[in-house]
Amino acid sequence: MYRRKFAKETQNMNIIITDDYEQMSARAAEIAVRTVTENPNAVLGLATGTTPLGLYKRLIADRAQNGTDYSAVRTVNLDEYMGLPKTHEQSYAYFMRKNLFDALGIAPENTNIEDGTATDEQAECARYDATLEKLPRDFQLLGLGSNGHIAFNEPNTPFGSTTHVVTLADSTVKDNSRLFSQISEVPRKAFTMGLKSIMQAKKILVLASGANKADAVFGMVRGEVTESLPASVLQLHPDCTLIVDKAAASKL
Ligand code: F6R
Repeated sequence: MYRRKFAKETQNMNIIITDDYEQMSARAAEIAVRTVTENPNAVLGLATGTTPLGLYKRLIADRAQNGTDYSAVRTVNLDEYMGLPKTHEQSYAYFMRKNLFDALGIAPENTNIEDGTATDEQAECARYDATLEKLPRDFQLLGLGSNGHIAFNEPNTPFGSTTHVVTLADSTVKDNSRLFSQISEVPRKAFTMGLKSIMQAKKILVLASGANKADAVFGMVRGEVTESLPASVLQLHPDCTLIVDKAAASKL
């Protein structure tokens, strides 16, 4: 494992390259546990998807071993599929409860996510923006789409965006179809936190693993800051750490 600072290209991004997914997850867990032990009332911005699962397993193991207390933590999630109720197994609300919140003892009232069943889209976006305003995030975890998206901010989303409804890119529908029994079941629309809101978090931690993320990692770190690669906006954040395994870092 080694650290790299691309002083010229990315003034602020702290980059940690690990041998593999497990090491990436372990390093991320150290940072997340430290955030909570230093501030038990922390507001955590959290992500779904495959990438954070190793981190989440480690947080659960750490709590069992060391008793890290999550009872006062509040959480806000990035995104939710439209049309799926929180009881649906493929909803992100369900994913979080099953893979993290129940095991960490985080009460439902301390968690926040967009309501996939909301029929008034504008009202739901406004409600979520108000929630984000009330709960300034101390920490924001992000995964990275193979097309450079963060949350569900697909290429060409304005950097000034707040919570909005997106039509998922075909590549995202394809990437995410592995978690559904068939591609036609993947919702085509979702609510997502916007890029402006993501950038408001005090500290950001981005995780990426695997060769299929290598182009997006390169663009995020060394490419120009452009809306055509949404993650490149993170170059402008004052406290952003990226932990990537060797395969995802292979084009840096
Ligand atoms: C999930 C999210 C997405 C994922 C990204 C990577 O809440 O916002 O941006 O982080 O699509 O997904 P995985 O980790 O499944 O490769």
